[in-house]
Amino acid sequence: MSSLNTILFGLSFENPLLLASGVNDKVPEQWIRAHKEGAGGVVTKSIGIEPRKGYGNPTVVELPYGLINAMGLPNPGWKGFLEMVEGYAFDFPLIVSIFGGSPGEFAFLAEKLSGVADAFELNLSCPHAKGYGMEIGQRPENVYEVVKAVKDVTGKPVIAKLTPNTNDIAKLGLAAEKAGANAVSAINTLKAIAIDVYARMPILSNKIGGYSGPGIKPIALRAVYDLARALDIPVIGVGGITTWQDAVEFLLAGASALQIGTAVSLRGWRVFREISEGIKRYLEEEGFLSVGEIVGLALG
Ligand code: FUM
Repeated sequence: MSSLNTILFGLSFENPLLLASGVNDKVPEQWIRAHKEGAGGVVTKSIGIEPRKGYGNPTVVELPYGLINAMGLPNPGWKGFLEMVEGYAFDFPLIVSIFGGSPGEFAFLAEKLSGVADAFELNLSCPHAKGYGMEIGQRPENVYEVVKAVKDVTGKPVIAKLTPNTNDIAKLGLAAEKAGANAVSAINTLKAIAIDVYARMPILSNKIGGYSGPGIKPIALRAVYDLARALDIPVIGVGGITTWQDAVEFLLAGASALQIGTAVSLRGWRVFREISEGIKRYLEEEGFLSVGEIVGLALG
């Protein structure tokens, strides 16, 4: 009997599929739903210091091969987040995504949220929020400083979420690893735009957004492949994973776990069950006993 159980940085996941930080993970009901539908763990929407309403509508455009979103990092702030999760006992690993404008802000958030997070994912990659995300995370020295600052204040595992909007994602990963990151996740969305030909203007209220979904899968897969070859810490694959075949490709390219976001919007919560059943079938048919056995087999 093949096992999908996945141990990452000391945390046990029922399977390697996690709900990605993105458009479907603002509140506990969505995290619980994802787990009920087969996600092994959850990454929250990114939390900052102050509450943010986010941008006005439209914040999401659907394209033939994915979505462009610019939500504007809406979140209740760290105090509101603590109030929101009070009274819940989650029976799955809860990875809290945080964003800040400096290493000190990231560290502050990690300190405040360490009591409720099983791990942190550092948003070093949002492609359009002024002063945050990839404006910081495109430079390896900034990635190093942020990860180091967070590692200095928390014993919880730290994952650096990297941007594909760079000419060498492995350099960003190496900086995160050197600073003590327990894993990296790759990739966040690609900076993108959609234009309404009749209004003759950008569709999103923020004009620029981040492209996700099946259209970016080959780019995400290549990023995972590059990172897995360069790093010793685990790589978590994210970007356009929609079918079990996509998931297996990412595992073979060196991902130890996977995140799914846009596929939930496009195909519904059932994708977690469909993909994990597909991976299990593949392992059994191909004679593998555990998901770990196939991680990185295509690295050569
Ligand atoms: O607009 C947003 O909230 C996007 C965040 C991200 O891409 O990290």
